[in-house]
Amino acid sequence: MTGAPAEDEQVEIRDLTDEDLEWVAQREHDIFGASAWSLSLIREDFTYGFSRWRGLEVEGLLAGYAVYGYEGDAFHLMNLAVVPEMRRQGVARRLFEDFLAEAQRLQAPDAWLEVATINRGALALYRAYGFEDVRVRPRYYQPEGLDALVMRKRLRC
Ligand SMILES: CC(C)(COP(=O)(O)OP(=O)(O)OC[C@H]1O[C@@H](n2cnc3c(N)ncnc32)[C@H](O)[C@@H]1OP(=O)(O)O)[C@@H](O)C(=O)NCCC(=O)NCCS
Repeated sequence: MTGAPAEDEQVEIRDLTDEDLEWVAQREHDIFGASAWSLSLIREDFTYGFSRWRGLEVEGLLAGYAVYGYEGDAFHLMNLAVVPEMRRQGVARRLFEDFLAEAQRLQAPDAWLEVATINRGALALYRAYGFEDVRVRPRYYQPEGLDALVMRKRLRC
């Protein structure tokens, strides 16, 4: 997959299922290290939480995932990750557009997210979609102690 999928390439965004959770936990560990969500936390949120868990498949194989939904009264992106071997091919862009489409569908007034201030790739993606800086949350990501930038995009006037 390059920025746009080849015509014969099967790309699908779907809801994740129970059977995907171990895959997600493994990817979390590989991608986020010490601050990864554990399998038990993932199972708990998936089973009892109100978030939507979405995965993007290329040719039947998961390449990335996103978790989003209402947190209080704010429509929020809780997680977004793409496996290293599938990066810079538009996977995050598609999952992010899925998140924004759901926000629009639910008529959320705005969409929110947090991102590590040093995460230049993710920041570039979010800014490209019109997200604006709101505030910095010092040492938000533990145990690394990285600062988070809170970002928002207004969807309705
Ligand atoms: C950040 C991440 C989700 C991007 O996924 P991706 O599928 O590679 O992103 P896309 O291919 O859809 O890129 C879309 C745009 O985002 C920006 N972008 C993505 N990765 C970038 C990077 N490493 N450096 C600079 N810009 C980047 C670019 O503007 C890119 O558009 P372009 O390729 O036309 O220049 C991925 O690198 C990742 O999973 N990182 C680790 C987990 C993480 O940081 N998640 C975000 C938590 S807030």
